Amino acid sequence: MEAIRNFFSTPWSSDQKLEDQTVVITGANTGIGKETAIDLAKRGARVIIACRDMEKAQEAVKEVISNSGNENVVCMKLDLADIKSIREFAEAINKDEPKLNILINNAGVMVCPYGKTADGFEMQIGVNHMGHFLLTHLLIDLIKRSAPARIVTVSSMAHSWGSINLEDINSEKSYDKKAAYSQSKLANVLFTRSLAKKLEGTGVTTYSLHPGVVQTDLWRHLNGPQQFVMKMVSPFTKTSVQGAQTTIYCAVEPTLEKESGGYYSDCAPANCSAAGKDDDLAQKLWELSCRMLSVTWD
Ligand SMILES: NC(=O)c1ccc[n+]([C@@H]2O[C@H](COP(=O)([O-])OP(=O)(O)OC[C@H]3O[C@@H](n4cnc5c(N)ncnc54)[C@H](OP(=O)(O)O)[C@@H]3O)[C@@H](O)[C@H]2O)c1
Repeated sequence: MEAIRNFFSTPWSSDQKLEDQTVVITGANTGIGKETAIDLAKRGARVIIACRDMEKAQEAVKEVISNSGNENVVCMKLDLADIKSIREFAEAINKDEPKLNILINNAGVMVCPYGKTADGFEMQIGVNHMGHFLLTHLLIDLIKRSAPARIVTVSSMAHSWGSINLEDINSEKSYDKKAAYSQSKLANVLFTRSLAKKLEGTGVTTYSLHPGVVQTDLWRHLNGPQQFVMKMVSPFTKTSVQGAQTTIYCAVEPTLEKESGGYYSDCAPANCSAAGKDDDLAQKLWELSCRMLSVTWD
């Protein structure tokens, strides 16, 4: 099984160091986020694990420290399904951290039953897109002051099956959990595309990516038959370590320094869907996000 997995894994590595750099990773208590945290801590970065469950977060901090040998790893409370929590987190970072060189928007929920965030957004668009949009907005001045800096957003190939329902982004009229996940992941790609334009000339670059099909807790909402299929195809899927490689590549690869706004997979540039390149849609989503979050971001 290991041999099959390695065949599908990514042949990229870099000894790029991150000493004197600060990294925030959302949803890093498990899965791809935790493996990303271990790798970036090994490179010498100060790593801030941003999680909604502080018990799980403390456990992850211990694991990241023991696997990386870097003691400069902390956790902070962040619930992306709650604007108040996002604002409190950002306020603490802006007050206490002199710099933020890498922001990794990694946390996500997939195909969950219909639910709403504290502020009334459908859960998948709320956590995966709106939460990260607001978080990035609130941290952007600090990130700009820390340039060269990077913002990496973990999307998915599922974005290519999606569209943005500008008339009913919260799926209130009808909810299809797979379509809502794809919508949120397309929103990640479009956000990155628009953000790159707004950040031109600032020294801050931004990337979105597909990590691969990775064995993590993300699949928890799949039904019995779907779980069975996942088990059957598991030799062809990635481990969390393998699944973290494209995120790490986007965060550290020196040749990406002059690139911004693109989409990556298997540690290389990749083609996103036509909708993911639609600048008009990206602008409309940007404006809608600002309105829904009551922020101004030109
Ligand atoms: N696994 C795959 O095959 C795959 C494929 C394509 C894209 N992705 C993307 O990869 C990213 C990481 O997913 P993963 O596979 O590593 O899944 P995972 O193991 O389920 O990790 C998801 C993380 O997001 C956190 N999270 C969920 N809701 C949150 C909220 N409201 N506030 C803060 N954190 C929250 C989770 O916290 P809890 O532990 O508290 O739930 C967890 O730490 C996601 O964006 C996902 O869409 C994954």
